[in-house]
Amino acid sequence: MSIIIGNWKMYKTRHQAVEFIKALLPLIQNCPNEVWLSVPFTSLQVCVEEAKGKGVKIGAQNMNEASEGAFTGEIAGQMLKEGGAEFVLLGHSERRKIFHETDEMIAAKVGKALEVGITPVLCVGETEEEREGGEEKEVLQRQIFQGFQKAPKDAYVILAYEPVWAIGTGKMATPKLAAEAHVFCRKILTSHFGKNGKSIPILYGGSVKPDTIQALLKENDINGALVGGASLDPKSFAAIANAR
Ligand code: 13P
Repeated sequence: MSIIIGNWKMYKTRHQAVEFIKALLPLIQNCPNEVWLSVPFTSLQVCVEEAKGKGVKIGAQNMNEASEGAFTGEIAGQMLKEGGAEFVLLGHSERRKIFHETDEMIAAKVGKALEVGITPVLCVGETEEEREGGEEKEVLQRQIFQGFQKAPKDAYVILAYEPVWAIGTGKMATPKLAAEAHVFCRKILTSHFGKNGKSIPILYGGSVKPDTIQALLKENDINGALVGGASLDPKSFAAIANAR
């Protein structure tokens, strides 16, 4: 069973979110995979209510590392937990690039998410320049080691490999290239988490579409997908979620 996560980014009002879930549920009734949705903060609670008992996990796209405090515009892990979030994306490349999040900040967020009982989905991936410069392994190693610095060895965490050059560009990594990166990530995970590292799901993200998901899921260490654009439409997201 794979894990398919939809990342809505800054799309969908509460009303649109509810409409989406109503349309999605009948399409994934015999779904072979776990379906998770990462929604805007304002839609968290309505999505949780709408998806209750229907096997779809609802989560958030970011959180602050502090428990509480004078941080205007931020949201704390405990607030997400109470709102019903079961997981949170952390260190997405858009957060790293646009909002200048560092590996150190991301590590603190991962630690806090685990502390409040939310599954962290750590996002890692190299830029186009880094790949062209042959630095992708170094980048992945640094982002994984540092991002999981505060995670206990037996923690339940998820890793998402999202090469930055494949996000929103339509240039999906070939299954072979993605698989090579996943095998490398697996090595880092086992050296960091020991035996637990063997079972940590590694998801691929970056221009995943209904017609490309199947080839990805056939690869050994690709345990699911993190889907952006194609998760905004219930039909295309369901087609991805139903892939075997
Ligand atoms: P796209 O699927 O739109 O390329 O986005 C991927 C992504 O950033 C998911 O987190």
